[in-house]
Amino acid sequence: MASLPSFTPFVFLLLVIGCNARPLYPLPSKGDDGNRKPLQTFRPYNIAHRGSNGELPEETHPAYLRAIEEGADFIETDILSSKDGVLVCFHDVTRDNTTDIANRTEFANRKRTYEVQGENMTGFFTVDFTLKELKSLRVKQRCSFRDQQFNGKFQIITFEEFITIALDAPRVVGIYPEIKIQYLSINMLNGPMAKDLRTSLWRHFRNMGTRVPTCQKIG
Ligand SMILES: *[C@@H]1O[C@H](CO)[C@@H](O)[C@H](O)[C@H]1NC(C)=O
Ligand SMILES: *[C@@H]1O[C@H](CO)[C@@H](O)[C@H](O)[C@H]1NC(C)=O
Ligand SMILES: *[C@@H]1O[C@H](CO)[C@@H](O)[C@H](O)[C@H]1NC(C)=O
Repeated sequence: MASLPSFTPFVFLLLVIGCNARPLYPLPSKGDDGNRKPLQTFRPYNIAHRGSNGELPEETHPAYLRAIEEGADFIETDILSSKDGVLVCFHDVTRDNTTDIANRTEFANRKRTYEVQGENMTGFFTVDFTLKELKSLRVKQRCSFRDQQFNGKFQIITFEEFITIALDAPRVVGIYPEIKIQYLSINMLNGPMAKDLRTSLWRHFRNMGTRVPTCQKIG
């Protein structure tokens, strides 16, 4: 049994502007010649919350591509950590409601109970699964009233893959990452990223050769 010291909402806005050199992370992007259309300024920003999640399962690659096609200025995601310390995009601390994990017999003994925001919650917690295991899951729509035809088709994405989606967009698209429950994301891990989530995020951006011209901490 683990307990949460406090609920720690932490979100910030970032404009991700790719630069030509990404020396440490040669990612499969189309590159950027510096001529992409900048962020629009004639109307309030449109922030795609978990991607176009009414149409496609939330926080998946296709959901974010669709949101960009539909004109999103920022794409939003939630960040958790896998057991092996890889930042992944997923809203819930458990996998139960948005993946096929309930049908995966090999994981049947991996249910755990943690105290989350003052209540005991039982489920399949992201922090108890390695990236490889998480990638083997297939996501599904959270809500029954949404289009169910894409259930079982897509994988979860890593935070790095999420950044790459923004960098590869045909115009400048910002990212809006949110760390909801820092304790369950990072602090309970013993890996090299355990100490300071923010430091590891900044390192992440630096390693990707990403400039971060604006940063606004909200809450
Ligand atoms: C789990 O399996 C059942 C029975 O085959 C199926 O109806 C259901 O859609 C599956 N759920 C998921 C999330 O894959
Ligand atoms: C959670 O369960 C443990 C073990 O049964 C118990 O000691 C603890 O009080 C429970 N916490 C809450 C918030 O109900
Ligand atoms: C699944 O979703 C329901 C409804 O939002 C929520 O009450 C429940 O805690 C979730 N289950 C898990 C294990 O996350």
